[in-house]
Amino acid sequence: MAEAHPSRPAGTRWDPGQYHRFTDHRLRPALELLDRVPIADASLVYDLGCGSGNVTRLIAERYATARVCGVDVSSEMLEKAGGVPGRVEWVQADIAHWEPEGAPELIYSNAALHWVDDHAALIPRLFGVLAPRGCLAVQMPLSHSMPSHVLMRETLADGGVNGSRLGDKALAAAVARRWVLDAGEYHDLLAPAAESVDVWETEYVQQLEGADPVLEWVKATGLRPILNGLCDAERERFVEVYRERLRRVYPRRANGQTLYPFRRLFVVATRRD
Ligand SMILES: C[S@@+](CC[C@H](N)C(=O)[O-])C[C@H]1O[C@@H](n2cnc3c(N)ncnc32)[C@H](O)[C@@H]1O
Repeated sequence: MAEAHPSRPAGTRWDPGQYHRFTDHRLRPALELLDRVPIADASLVYDLGCGSGNVTRLIAERYATARVCGVDVSSEMLEKAGGVPGRVEWVQADIAHWEPEGAPELIYSNAALHWVDDHAALIPRLFGVLAPRGCLAVQMPLSHSMPSHVLMRETLADGGVNGSRLGDKALAAAVARRWVLDAGEYHDLLAPAAESVDVWETEYVQQLEGADPVLEWVKATGLRPILNGLCDAERERFVEVYRERLRRVYPRRANGQTLYPFRRLFVVATRRD
């Protein structure tokens, strides 16, 4: 169970089964991030927000002699991670307060740090605990201005009919919050202590299969605070209105697929000393 967060709806529960419905699309950026990590050998590696550990296990294969730890706040995710035999150590902790048990050569985080507040403090703090020449590698979705996420906020605000707001103001404020900074801000936060900073963005034009696949996609990630934060009747109303809006914005193509363009930000920085 996720811990309460001051500026995020309490109890954002994760559903490993839903998250893994689109494994290939979710794995690709994780591997592209790992591919850019310029660390040959390591003795201590952390995967922050490791989820059910699919990527952590690949990191452990790449750094075969390192102690590799997967850190996550969700007991559901860690239970799934621990169900697969292997040498990765699983640690339950909130990244906001987490501290390593030594100076890691690599802190890796795929699709997780956007759930953690105050990057202006968090990113330099994570960079600062690395070993000399250590690497911070982060990927986060740039979803705030994507139509799927704009429609989430609109649907909460109007419930499909003007004046029928769903949920309370705290939920609306948490969902409206922009968690990820601009690319240049990450550069500026890291550059003073860095040997190198590589920041880039990629938009994946994802080809999704099945009925209402964009809804199914966001149900595992960005929609979770809303699904967890509404009562049953409001949730039903929200999903009904939101599904129709998504269908209009992301129509099914002639071959049955739905295209879901998805933009992601990557940061790979190494410490100077
Ligand atoms: C979208 S999943 C990504 C999982 C994994 N990194 C991957 O690439 O498959 C996001 C994960 O971040 C975790 N998470 C969110 N906020 C967190 C926090 N404050 N501290 C630790 N983990 C967190 C969630 O529990 C979830 O497992």
